Amino acid sequence: MVAVLVLAAALAVAQKTSPARADSDWWKNAVIYEIYPRSFGDTNGDGVGDLNGITAHLDYLRDLGVDAIWIAPFYPSPQVDFGYDISDYLAIDPQYGTMADFDKLVAEAGKRRMRVIIDLVLNHTSDRHAWFRESRASRANPKADWFVWRDGKPDGQPPNNWLSIFGHSAWQLDAARRQFYYHAFYKEQPDLNWRNPDVRKAMYDTMRVWMKRGVAGFRLDAVTSLFEDPQVRDESARPGRNAYGDANVSREYTDNLPEVHDVLREMRQVTNEFPGRILIGETYLPNIEELAKMYGQANDETQMPMDMQFAMHGNFSAAVFRKKLREAETQLNGNMPLIVTDNHDNRRSVDRFGDGTHNQEIARLVATLLLTPRATALLYYGQELGMANNDPKRVEDVRDPIGKAGWPKEKGRDGERTPMQWDGTANAGFTKGRAPWLAVGADHAERNVASELRDRKSLLNYYKTLIRLRRENAALRDGLVKIVDENNANVLSFLRQKDGMTVLVALNFSAQAQTVRYDLGGAKKLKTLVSSFEAGEAASADGLVLPGFGAYVGAMQ
Ligand code: NOJ
Repeated sequence: MVAVLVLAAALAVAQKTSPARADSDWWKNAVIYEIYPRSFGDTNGDGVGDLNGITAHLDYLRDLGVDAIWIAPFYPSPQVDFGYDISDYLAIDPQYGTMADFDKLVAEAGKRRMRVIIDLVLNHTSDRHAWFRESRASRANPKADWFVWRDGKPDGQPPNNWLSIFGHSAWQLDAARRQFYYHAFYKEQPDLNWRNPDVRKAMYDTMRVWMKRGVAGFRLDAVTSLFEDPQVRDESARPGRNAYGDANVSREYTDNLPEVHDVLREMRQVTNEFPGRILIGETYLPNIEELAKMYGQANDETQMPMDMQFAMHGNFSAAVFRKKLREAETQLNGNMPLIVTDNHDNRRSVDRFGDGTHNQEIARLVATLLLTPRATALLYYGQELGMANNDPKRVEDVRDPIGKAGWPKEKGRDGERTPMQWDGTANAGFTKGRAPWLAVGADHAERNVASELRDRKSLLNYYKTLIRLRRENAALRDGLVKIVDENNANVLSFLRQKDGMTVLVALNFSAQAQTVRYDLGGAKKLKTLVSSFEAGEAASADGLVLPGFGAYVGAMQ
């Protein structure tokens, strides 16, 4: 297929070079790398990753080009939800190490010019947290109103039809109080009552403690779940059943209530007390308009709500991503999008978008999609290797409780949480001790850091090249996005333009080779900057030939 497109002029218009980026803006266009601490590196041989296991691999992350790491929860926890059930916000779970280990990690990261972002689980605590123990003890104690308590119905049934995101009623009867408490997630994760100012103050003080210890910011877990309808009205019915067998309901009274924005504004004030600290929202939202609100009307909420709409889906087509890219560029009021393709809660993108035959080509295309728009990029450990989901084969092997409850429809999240693949040895270099807490992926002999570092054409080296390029190339780093060849069904093409420089990105979403022809508007040729294939002479004004799922980035000269 041949498409002809006309590029906007403007190439010759030299703009003033922007001043060096202020340090407080370090997060703009940054690469943030998510680490699931149980699965990254185990230094004490217990089969579970630890903080020292992260510190041990900081050189690797620096060489990859990472600006900041986000570490999923490492606080003391009964580990029902693998750390998202926190029993003490101000300490380290012994299985992950000590506070001294944490300080060392922050210091060592700093020496390598990397920042540390931590996970703030603010919607709920563990049911073992002292706050909840006190709250559940009676209806009249200082913490009685710190959680969301309601009487049941006269017949003893829960107060309403609200469902936990992890299945079944969101209400749990407490024998001592003879009341129900609300839990958006597991019953071991009671929701805090964010209408109570003491709760807010406790959490804001927690943030201050960690910022004083040197963290660069917070990833706000489940932040859209903070508030529920005070009248506890029933949610409306929706067709079908969820994986756990419950009749579906909407989430109009439990998700994304307007009060969330009050809290985000307050939190922004708190982080503003410490220069350069940021808030990243875990923001699953139905559309770009709701996402835009998370930045705040006066840019006074989160710096970067995660754009889960961009790529956390299974629709792999040029048209879908063109629309997402346009929305991110035009409807976020010039704010920095945070593109996420992978995390510890969703199937890895290589499987979600992969067709089973071209998965590794598709992984390169996803890498290019993640790292070439005007956006901060979130990279999930192992994504840079092409690590695949390694789902449990038998229910008895499942560790994630939702996988046990929902089997076989919902297999849980173990598959995307398997150990980081450092080398081709039996435990993939993750642990020298006994068996890792989750079996290492079957693909580790082939896909691992050691072998990919050696292979010039590996996905890892492709990521490294792309990350370096976007740091060095001002157009790719800061340039505006201009979508071109709008009607091409197979190839998404866009330009990044800055200071008279133009970079073209072309992504073939089909398995067939595609030829795209560009009118270079005065420029004579394309100089290949990075491509997922041997571009050679193919990159010229006369036509760019993209192999199936090929990704191309070139400068116009
Ligand atoms: C979102 C986290 O990413 C997920 O892993 C967790 O289970 C829920 N929030 C509850 O904290």
